[in-house]
Amino acid sequence: MFDPLDLYSPDEQVQLEKITEATTIFTKLHQDDPVVVITAVNDNRIDGIKAQEEDEDEEEEDSIIDILDLPPATYATPQASLCVLLLLKPDKQVNFNTSNDDYDDSTNSKSVEIICKEKEISSELLSSLLTWYTDLWPNSRLNTELKICTRIPRLRSYGQKELLLNYYTSLLKKYDNCNEDYINDQIVKELSLRISENCGRSAQPSMTRDFNLQNLVHVIQLYEPSLTADNLGWKTWGSSLILSQELVNDLETNKNNKKSKSIRRVLELGAGTGLVGIAWACKWRQLYGNESIEMFVTDLPDIVTNLRKNVQNNDLDDFVVADVLDWTNPEDFIKKYSDEKFDTILIADPIYSPNHPEWVVNMICKFLAINGRCHLEIPLRAKYALEREKLSNLLEQHGLVVYNERSSEGMDDWGVVKYLYKEIGWDTTLTD
Ligand SMILES: C[S@@+](CC[C@H](N)C(=O)[O-])C[C@H]1O[C@@H](n2cnc3c(N)ncnc32)[C@H](O)[C@@H]1O
Repeated sequence: MFDPLDLYSPDEQVQLEKITEATTIFTKLHQDDPVVVITAVNDNRIDGIKAQEEDEDEEEEDSIIDILDLPPATYATPQASLCVLLLLKPDKQVNFNTSNDDYDDSTNSKSVEIICKEKEISSELLSSLLTWYTDLWPNSRLNTELKICTRIPRLRSYGQKELLLNYYTSLLKKYDNCNEDYINDQIVKELSLRISENCGRSAQPSMTRDFNLQNLVHVIQLYEPSLTADNLGWKTWGSSLILSQELVNDLETNKNNKKSKSIRRVLELGAGTGLVGIAWACKWRQLYGNESIEMFVTDLPDIVTNLRKNVQNNDLDDFVVADVLDWTNPEDFIKKYSDEKFDTILIADPIYSPNHPEWVVNMICKFLAINGRCHLEIPLRAKYALEREKLSNLLEQHGLVVYNERSSEGMDDWGVVKYLYKEIGWDTTLTD
């Protein structure tokens, strides 16, 4: 049977054999001609210097490995294969950074200990992979723990997704029908994760993402369950990152402004995983502590359990309440917490069906205090142009004014997206 590994042999030994063979032939041919031999020796010295320089370049090139450097499913020990699968785990995402698909350069500067901790690799697993590369299938590009830990994760970024998928399926063929033991189960579990991570955000498994905002000390960590049953609030959307950064910057700029300090009640609508509300609360706490402020982050019942968990994980549960506020039935929320108005309302990406503009404007009308401000960020999705127009018309019809509007570009899981920010308040000239 054809095995692609037949085409591949550890390169160092072959080269050494070729060089020795060439030197022997040269010496035999020119042993009666000292000039040629001396020139050859000098050339060799020059070549030696050149070779040293080239070695340095090659070292760079040498760090590039490919799929054929991975231990083949047929021969590798289960421990070595499991270690490879764990090394191919995606790095944690920061601010929609695409390290999920592309190799994150920071891995290069991390120590073996840190990489193993992040990827949950035990020292036993790592040594079984090292034994593979030093004793069983010698490979100079992967013969130290550091080379293994920094080079194998890079395979995710070499545009070799299809080849990696072939590698995963070859392992799956081997381990799918095996006896049920711990290591076998682990391999199958990691394999399913690696395969699904390649299937786009909507088919990906659950994940935790970090958000690292300017002017904010706290790094926000958000858990996102895998997206099922159209629960869009289980993913963090690009609008919320843009809005969070703008709000944090505003709080920073206005920190000595009395008006900013007078905010007492804050409400987030359709909070999803909670980035906007959590960022706002973290910045507020950083500037003023958490006294005399009431804050609610709200969404539909299916979303609130995870939202609450994210509030807790970011140590905000002593002053941020996560609860249900359904735009089609706000009465339950009002019964539980009163109908007192809010100084600040935060909303990111709430318009993606024909009913949403009306529901969202109703919520702003119901909950925004007379001198309050609503901060709204929406993506400029081509498909929802009519809904955006409807939103603008409804705001105007209800006596709401857009005091500030600006567009920007930002990231989401699918790449760059254009966004529109609106600062909305009541038209106070009408009430005077
Ligand atoms: C596209 S997601 C945006 C989530 C979050 N704001 C973000 O930007 O990451 C829209 C959110 O609106 C919520 N939503 C939709 N209809 C709602 C309703 N009737 N009442 C309350 N929330 C709703 C969804 O559950 C979801 O969390």
